[in-house]
Amino acid sequence: MQSGLFRHQRGVVEISLRKWSSQTPLLAAALASTRVATSAEQRVWIGSKSPDQDSHWAERLSPLRRPVDGPFQSTGTICAHTTLSSPPVIQRKQQQWTRSFCTHPVASLTVPSSWHSKQGGILPVVTSSLVNQRTMSTMAAAPHATVLTEDNINPNVKAMEYAVRGPLVIRATEIEKELASGQKKPFTEVIKANIGDAQAMGQKPITFIRQVLCLVAYPELLDGPGFPEDVKSRARAILTASRGSAGCYSDSAGLELIRKHVAQYIERRDGFPSNPDDIVLCAGASEGIRSSLKLLSTISGPRTGIMIPIPQYPLYSASIVEYNMEQVGYYLDEDNDWGLDVKELERSIQEARKRCEVRGIVVINPGNPTGQVLTRENIVDVIKFAHREKLFLFADEVYQDNVYASNRQFHSFKKVISELGEPYNKMELASFLSCSKGYMGECGLRGGYAEILNLNPAVKALYLKSISAKLCPTVLGQAVMDCVVNPPQPGEPSYELFTKEKAEVLQSLASRALSIAKTFNSIPGMKCNAVQGAMYAFPQVLIPEKAVAKAKSLGQAPDVFYAFQLLEQTGICCVPGSGFGQRPGTHHFRTTILPQPAKLEIMLEKFRAFQEKFMKEWQ
Ligand SMILES: Cc1ncc(COP(=O)(O)O)c(C=O)c1O
Repeated sequence: MQSGLFRHQRGVVEISLRKWSSQTPLLAAALASTRVATSAEQRVWIGSKSPDQDSHWAERLSPLRRPVDGPFQSTGTICAHTTLSSPPVIQRKQQQWTRSFCTHPVASLTVPSSWHSKQGGILPVVTSSLVNQRTMSTMAAAPHATVLTEDNINPNVKAMEYAVRGPLVIRATEIEKELASGQKKPFTEVIKANIGDAQAMGQKPITFIRQVLCLVAYPELLDGPGFPEDVKSRARAILTASRGSAGCYSDSAGLELIRKHVAQYIERRDGFPSNPDDIVLCAGASEGIRSSLKLLSTISGPRTGIMIPIPQYPLYSASIVEYNMEQVGYYLDEDNDWGLDVKELERSIQEARKRCEVRGIVVINPGNPTGQVLTRENIVDVIKFAHREKLFLFADEVYQDNVYASNRQFHSFKKVISELGEPYNKMELASFLSCSKGYMGECGLRGGYAEILNLNPAVKALYLKSISAKLCPTVLGQAVMDCVVNPPQPGEPSYELFTKEKAEVLQSLASRALSIAKTFNSIPGMKCNAVQGAMYAFPQVLIPEKAVAKAKSLGQAPDVFYAFQLLEQTGICCVPGSGFGQRPGTHHFRTTILPQPAKLEIMLEKFRAFQEKFMKEWQ
């Protein structure tokens, strides 16, 4: 029996199916033919919103129209509405309609209110033939069922996964509470190396940013002493642009003043013009990425495929699923410092075109979780590939300030397409920066921007319309972004401190990047590419066969088993490689390089001891 939701409310019995299957018409027919009790005629309505379906299914179900009889008497009329969800072929043609429709009941039975007292007698007749036992018992226990259940929620929301905040993190939080309540463990604290949250790991905020923020939030302090003049002038300008208060809504694309500053920043960075009208400020880069990615989703025809690196940052895999698109993974080359190989891009797209229409490619540079910084040649290859294959380019450049390798330099996609000239500089390109990363680490303040180039004007208008539904990113988040793109200049009072603090953070990150890779490479059973940039190491770990078998017996991926063991035994919370994707048969984990140096040292020693013990135990 196909499982579904059964609910009975105000005289309406509804059955929602989890999904269309070959059983669906049978189920609907069963409902239609169920002998519900009345002396009146049972009318079977074959209601659908699709003419194709109506004629198709009306024919099949019409023999079921018949008078009904039974033990109950009623003066009213019973209507059994049998509403069918669409068969797959129509689903493809009319996806939008289908999607909204599939969340509605496929069948409903309306009974007169005088029957309510007898529902106990009616329902079993229907349910016994239609609904599984589990659902029945749920219904009996809950006279008011929720509209949304796990079975009828948007399936894309159910399917999406975001490993960085998955079950390991939930367990880590539990362990923290256990420690706080006095439980004894082989460690005294949980080290949360799972998420790129620098300030949570002890990084100090940049004074200039916090001072500007402070004045923007509380302008009364503008007239007092204690704040440098450049801080005051930045805050005044932002306040004037936002009508005197950070509590006012801004334009949906953000304050024009700050968009102008972003454009000037990009011009300084790349040496090519940037248009403030191509800039959209957003609540963290995530929002900009998601709002632009969404533009490529289709509701009819083949699904859109988006090429993403494997391993990737799970914002992409999750959003692609949520927007009903198809993930098209291209593997990064672990043996070549997680480099990006055009042959692999070609393999990936050719394979994917059998199942979807590939329309976009995401490049994360510097890479998360892999820490590579792409060479200019590599970027040129990707741009040419994307042009050949008519792909929308997404350049995730949130780690552009986090480059540590002396032989690498950050090249923005915007700069490279501009240098290549026509036709490449006419390609659609969305690139992103955020105040969450870099030296700022202000991820809780949610600031970011997208520069979106070469959109068809009508598409651009529609995009701006779509983001207007979110009203605007927070003005305080925009203010932080303003500090990032309009930092103190030589000669200004904050310049020296700003430069010092920025350099200290970046130097410390660079030295942690170096030591983390070095340590992992010195631990038996682990190997780690140089962390050239970003905030993570993604070492490969050898998991012995016996441990793989144990993981399987627990229904876990081997790297999930490894990460849970690591957490329980050492208190280190990292993310299993399977959350980012990895070549089959290889196992990785991602750790941030964010613990402060003393804690990082402790963490790495714990890693070493754990790995040695793990190998002994499972070899
Ligand atoms: C590659 C990448 N892109 C985007 C983001 C999103 O950052 P935010 O939304 O905080 O700006 C992150 C966060 O970790 C990331 O690693």
